[in-house]
Amino acid sequence: MAEEAILGYLLDNEEITDSGQFSDEHNLNHDEVVNVIKRLHAFRYIDCQNIKRVSSVLTDEGKKYAAEGSPEVQYFLAVPAEGSISKDELQKKLSPSDWKSKTSVFRIGSIYAVTNKWVEGGKQVSRKVQHVEDKVKNLLLQIQEGMEPDEESLNYLKTTRRLVEEKVWKGYSVKKGPNYAPKRMSFATDLSRENLQNWKELEFKEYNFNAKGQPVDAGHVHPLLKVRKQFKDIFRQMGFEEMPTNNFVESSFWNFDALFQPQQHPARDSHDTFFLKAPSTTRELPEDYVERVKQVHESGGYGSRGYNYDWKREEANKNLLRTHTTAVSSRMLYALAKKPFTPKKYFSIDRVFRNEAVDRTHLAEFHQIEGLVCDHGLTLGDLIGVLQDFFSRLGISNLRFKPAYNPYTEPSMEIFSYHEGLGKWVEIGNSGMFRPEMLLPMGLPEDVRVIAWGLSLERPTMILYEIDNIRDLFGHKVDLGLIKRNPICRIGIE
Ligand code: PHE
Repeated sequence: MAEEAILGYLLDNEEITDSGQFSDEHNLNHDEVVNVIKRLHAFRYIDCQNIKRVSSVLTDEGKKYAAEGSPEVQYFLAVPAEGSISKDELQKKLSPSDWKSKTSVFRIGSIYAVTNKWVEGGKQVSRKVQHVEDKVKNLLLQIQEGMEPDEESLNYLKTTRRLVEEKVWKGYSVKKGPNYAPKRMSFATDLSRENLQNWKELEFKEYNFNAKGQPVDAGHVHPLLKVRKQFKDIFRQMGFEEMPTNNFVESSFWNFDALFQPQQHPARDSHDTFFLKAPSTTRELPEDYVERVKQVHESGGYGSRGYNYDWKREEANKNLLRTHTTAVSSRMLYALAKKPFTPKKYFSIDRVFRNEAVDRTHLAEFHQIEGLVCDHGLTLGDLIGVLQDFFSRLGISNLRFKPAYNPYTEPSMEIFSYHEGLGKWVEIGNSGMFRPEMLLPMGLPEDVRVIAWGLSLERPTMILYEIDNIRDLFGHKVDLGLIKRNPICRIGIE
């Protein structure tokens, strides 16, 4: 309505000089008129200029006195024409409840009635004149009517008495703009079915190729997968092949026995390992190899004395969720031993499971990064060299090694690196040379040595992404916002 009124008026008239006046004349709400002016201006139908009008209006106190008379006159009138009245009595009469207040009629009235020399006295008050004029009330009524009093009076009411204040009114003057038309075209903005069916009658809004598009809510790659990708690239650059790790369920045989881990080992307890209920046992194992593994556990061979216990097939048959990817390595090495030997470099990065108490750094599952090299005559020096090469590609050059124990490696070494942020040496992985008790029953040539290492994917990811609670990164409490926001953190680049 306001839009039609404005555009229609401008058809016959040069200008709307004052949007306020225009609103009054056309019976329109000024706020609405202002909104329409802004919109028409944006489409360049009109040009407009701000106008500002400052007017005087009564404060709440001013409104009260305009109705009831100024406090000084009320005070004067409360004093009897003859004789006197006590201040206490005046107080009760004028301000029975709020006489203590600074703005009470009694207090203010008494100040101005005395300055005006209308009354006199200390405890007893009496009149000095018989007639007074309520100038303040008259001025206030004038202002309420929209008349401006003289400047001195106005200043007095504004600054000394604070009965009047300024109000700024904002409006516009309006003229035709470059796109003026008596009626605004409405553009179709959507390529909807209906709009397309009526395309002949419609005017479509032009494309705004500069408009920013909606942010695309696409899938996001999890930080663990981003870091995994970087590790994979490093392994591939070093000439490693990826091992197939697509089986979370493994038999105890490949996970433990093949690795010369005795059946009484605490890791094989259900406190540490998740055993499967169904299917609870594996269907088949390579029988001749199983026999050799049994032998080496029970009585040794290949220069070893073995563990000297009764090896049980039932124990080896038990299915579990693999506790390390070294289970995959043992399968791969066995497969390798069945063919004429060729040196290999293998790696894997995948999930492993351990029955652990969950806290801010531990979950019951994590990703293990594993690398191994098998070749004739490898030494511990080769292992140290490969580890230094591998970790330097991650930007970690300062390594230390600590002798350690694994049932399947001898010697074994924990890998430490100096963490600048923490100011100390931290363990970053585990490594070793696979034992002959593991390799020879597989059928690998006698001079073939296998060097290997393992680490978690979570630890470096948490450091790179500055995440201090593993549960924010992985599992059912994962922070999806973090997954969406996280940028790519590059390994090895400061
Ligand atoms: N399997 C070991 C672990 O779970 C890691 C490792 C791999 C150690 C290879 C030595 C050699 O911690």
